Amino acid sequence: MAFHTKRNILLHTFFWCSLLSIFLTSHGTETDILCLKSIKNSLEDPNNYLTSSWNFSNNFEGYICRFNGVECWHPDENRVLNIKLSNMGLKGQFPRGFRNCSSITGLDLSFNEFSGPIPTDISSILPFLTSIDLRNNKFTGEIPIALANCTYLNALKLDNNTLTGEIPKELGQFPRIRTISFSNNQLYGQVPMFDGLVKVNYANNRGLCGGSLTPCSSTHDNQNDFHQSLKGGLIVGYISVLLERLTSTIGLDELCGATESFTVDNAIGVGKMGMMYQGFLPNGQSLAVRRLFDAQLFKRQFLLETMIMGRYKHKNIVPLLGFCIEGKERLLAYPYMSNRRLSKWLHPLESEVIRLKWHQRVNIALGIARGLSWLHHTCDLGIVHFNICSQCILLDENFEPKISNFGEANFMNPNIEDHLGTMFKVNDGKKDVYDFGSVLFELITGKTYNELSHSYDTSDLCDNPLSFYNVIDKSMRGEGLENEVCTLIKMACECVHPLPDQRPTMLEVYNNMSNLRKGQTDSDTLRGLEYNSSITIDEIVEF
Ligand SMILES: *[C@@H]1O[C@H](CO)[C@@H](O)[C@H](O)[C@H]1NC(C)=O
Ligand SMILES: *[C@@H]1O[C@H](CO)[C@@H](O)[C@H](O)[C@H]1NC(C)=O
Ligand SMILES: *[C@@H]1O[C@H](CO)[C@@H](O)[C@H](O)[C@H]1NC(C)=O
Ligand SMILES: *[C@@H]1O[C@H](CO)[C@@H](O)[C@H](O)[C@H]1NC(C)=O
Ligand SMILES: *[C@@H]1O[C@H](CO)[C@@H](O)[C@H](O)[C@H]1NC(C)=O
Ligand SMILES: *[C@@H]1O[C@H](CO)[C@@H](O)[C@H](O)[C@H]1NC(C)=O
Repeated sequence: MAFHTKRNILLHTFFWCSLLSIFLTSHGTETDILCLKSIKNSLEDPNNYLTSSWNFSNNFEGYICRFNGVECWHPDENRVLNIKLSNMGLKGQFPRGFRNCSSITGLDLSFNEFSGPIPTDISSILPFLTSIDLRNNKFTGEIPIALANCTYLNALKLDNNTLTGEIPKELGQFPRIRTISFSNNQLYGQVPMFDGLVKVNYANNRGLCGGSLTPCSSTHDNQNDFHQSLKGGLIVGYISVLLERLTSTIGLDELCGATESFTVDNAIGVGKMGMMYQGFLPNGQSLAVRRLFDAQLFKRQFLLETMIMGRYKHKNIVPLLGFCIEGKERLLAYPYMSNRRLSKWLHPLESEVIRLKWHQRVNIALGIARGLSWLHHTCDLGIVHFNICSQCILLDENFEPKISNFGEANFMNPNIEDHLGTMFKVNDGKKDVYDFGSVLFELITGKTYNELSHSYDTSDLCDNPLSFYNVIDKSMRGEGLENEVCTLIKMACECVHPLPDQRPTMLEVYNNMSNLRKGQTDSDTLRGLEYNSSITIDEIVEF
């Protein structure tokens, strides 16, 4: 015991000496003042703790050391050692201005209302921290892997936030960590390996396992395991068998003829999976033909597209006209959508001055909600798209939106477990609800939720939707539609709620939104929608 204590003291001394030598050679002062100014400016301070105390009009050496919550290496030198801003009611994102407090070793922002993510480059902003306390805030997003590069850390406290995802296993490599706590977040998956002497708290998360907790079971129903199993060979083998049973519904010759043998002149786009071509059938019908780059690589996507888009006909889903499997060729034929992708309209080039009108935007939002609601709640498989974004929404000649790109889709309905195995199954459609919320923001502001949250405190905007007025796409201001805009923004805010359980379902979203357009369209009910099966699922999945 005595030996250990002595050794610890020695290590400790050595550690502080090495930190000191780093800081004695670097120089603070000017940049430390800039650091504090920038922090003060970036935060909302409703109780005036900083406003009253952080007065930069003085200019004597060490004046910042008298500020509330600031501790210096030496009281007569403007070089910050620790910042402790606990319980001051402060609001805002994690201040990047800390970067200029180049000698700081301790940071306590606990019990405030900080929101947004912990910066992914936190280790370059605050490389020498020995202690970080972010407890009891509203931080969201994942714990950045870069934290592991803060190698001087001996205490890290992240309790009572809304952090999601997995705890990076790299955190197990902190050389000096003594206390680390994650309680009351939304974390899941395998925890890192910590030395037995480290005090760890994992209480109240969404599904952490391994380490000192219960072992991670292989049937654990979390997203991580789910994606792991998708990557596994099992499903690929299964899909190969399913694919072998598919026979082309449209000939290669016909598609070659339609696209003039896939000449470059007929190419209209390129995606992750393949090239898109425009073509015409002899009867004059206009087609979009997707020619996959690699039959092996995109087996699963090909199967899903034929299964989903070939099976269902719905006003808001791009139908599949046919597909072709010949040798190494994999081709999918859809009707050509003359107004192309929604993203093109929301982010027009300078030269393209035409913009969508407000009523068109509402109609597009409603159509996407209708399509998703139908996929989730009405169609027999309970399809979750998993990749909704403005790039995968196509617009027909009347600007009716059509959902496409089903290559990432999964199913909710347990009835198909027997056929496709549990790997395809998900619990709910809340990922689509989130993505829909983000597209809704994009329709209103021209920016996705992610883009917005980089430049604004979105929780503030959501608390007061009228404050969105400045963010609304310029082309729509002054249309006297503040009420509708407000309603849709409220909806979008609910959809991107950090806790999936708290998000509405697509059906709730659709029903709520369709009130906006009551009486204007009679086909806006989910019930009256066509359903058809040109290829039946049984053809595909029965052996
Ligand atoms: C800041 O300090 C200066 C100089 O001491 C003083 O004149 C001024 O009133 C102070 N400002 C505030 C807001 O306290
Ligand atoms: C750090 O200070 C420099 C001036 O020394 C300034 O240009 C820069 O914007 C500051 N960085 C941050 C993140 O505030
Ligand atoms: C962490 O540090 C290592 C070694 O310096 C570097 O290669 C890596 O990019 C850093 N990682 C992050 C996420 O900053
Ligand atoms: C987390 O919040 C709960 C409820 O406000 C509180 O009882 C608990 O002490 C907090 N945990 C930490 C580690 O601060
Ligand atoms: C629709 O959403 C608004 C705003 O969130 C809410 O006040 C209203 O109760 C919702 N209506 C329905 C029918 O869900
Ligand atoms: C459904 O498909 C059948 C042929 O399989 C066709 O006769 C019928 O008209 C289609 N119905 C609709 C609504 O498209």
